[in-house]
Amino acid sequence: MVSLADYEAAARDRLDPGTWAYISGGAADELTLRWNRAAFDRMRLRGRVLAEMAGAHTRLTLLGEALRHPVLLAPTAFHRLAHPEGEAATALGAAALGAGMVLSTQSSLPVEQVAARLRAGGAGAPLWFQLYLQHDRGFTRALVERAEAAGCTALVLTVDAPVSIRNREARAGFATPPGIEAVHLRGLPPAPPNRAGMTESAVFAGLLDGAATWRDVAWLRGVTRLPLLLKGVTDPEDAERAVAEGAAGIVLSNHGGRALDGLPATIDLLPPLAERVAGRVPVLLDGGIRRGTDILKALALGARAVLVGRPQLHALAVGGAVGVAHMLKILLTELETAMALTGCRDLSAIGPQVLWRAAGEP
Ligand code: FNR
Ligand code: LAC
Repeated sequence: MVSLADYEAAARDRLDPGTWAYISGGAADELTLRWNRAAFDRMRLRGRVLAEMAGAHTRLTLLGEALRHPVLLAPTAFHRLAHPEGEAATALGAAALGAGMVLSTQSSLPVEQVAARLRAGGAGAPLWFQLYLQHDRGFTRALVERAEAAGCTALVLTVDAPVSIRNREARAGFATPPGIEAVHLRGLPPAPPNRAGMTESAVFAGLLDGAATWRDVAWLRGVTRLPLLLKGVTDPEDAERAVAEGAAGIVLSNHGGRALDGLPATIDLLPPLAERVAGRVPVLLDGGIRRGTDILKALALGARAVLVGRPQLHALAVGGAVGVAHMLKILLTELETAMALTGCRDLSAIGPQVLWRAAGEP
């Protein structure tokens, strides 16, 4: 295993076809899923030689927390699909490399257990909680309080996937196997019955009933003292509104191509969004990050940090906690190498100057 692609190929061999379809798949025709990667591959870098690199490092401060590097683990559901130890193993791997971890609302282990494992693994790896707003706001509030009590230091409200079309998953007939469930949602009162009959829309008259709106963002800010990030913002107008509503950060994401098929690659969406936000809050990016050079490209266009989604599940399936740690080590070594070869001593030195443009290109 020398690259994240190696972990992906090995994971595919190990996982059953249904689980593989769930993890690797995207929405509908998977256009956005493919574009996330294609857009990174199109970008070229400008090499600089003989730069003074003494004292080089990848440290940063994010929402007041000191981090060793700008890579976090994106929230992904049900890690026990990939490994029996699930999110506990992921946390140990993240802690070993000082990577922040964003725990999904739909995790297969409880936040208290994951937090304990992250702490046991060493200092300096923050745990954030990803929130899916539930139709029962009282239950949602209790979940937020639970994440706070467990020591989470930020809340990440995911806003881009209240509904989605997953053809690959459906064709494979994927369902979570017995014994794997969204443990945080135990005890959630049943949703009100779907009002849709034969002639009404199941989406408009049912699935969207409990979905979050801007009103809930204000409500959520009122019930928590944690910094609130919005994940899945892609439009500069929405980013502007997020800042106005008091968001502490934005995760520019298309859900790894799993929400609206047809959204551009996140790296293509980044320049206008970062320009609009203008440094008022940090912008993080995910979607298709598979190499250290991808991280360099994202930081060059204005991201403060990046998150990786599927690669943590691939590494988990292949090697548990050690696999996750090794996957992160590969990515960080690649980032440091890319910085060295573009003459960047620290993250603040990474700017548009590292991107190569042909003569006459804008
Ligand atoms: C996700 N993602 C996701 N996002 C979220 O906010 N809550 C969640 O529970 C999940 N669950 C989830 C499961 C699986 C299997 C995948 C692949 C993705 C989206 C995730 O946080 C992230 O946005 C993407 O995975 C990033 O793209 P890459 O790195 O997978 O290309
Ligand atoms: C997914 C949900 C859990 O992408 O966010 O599968």
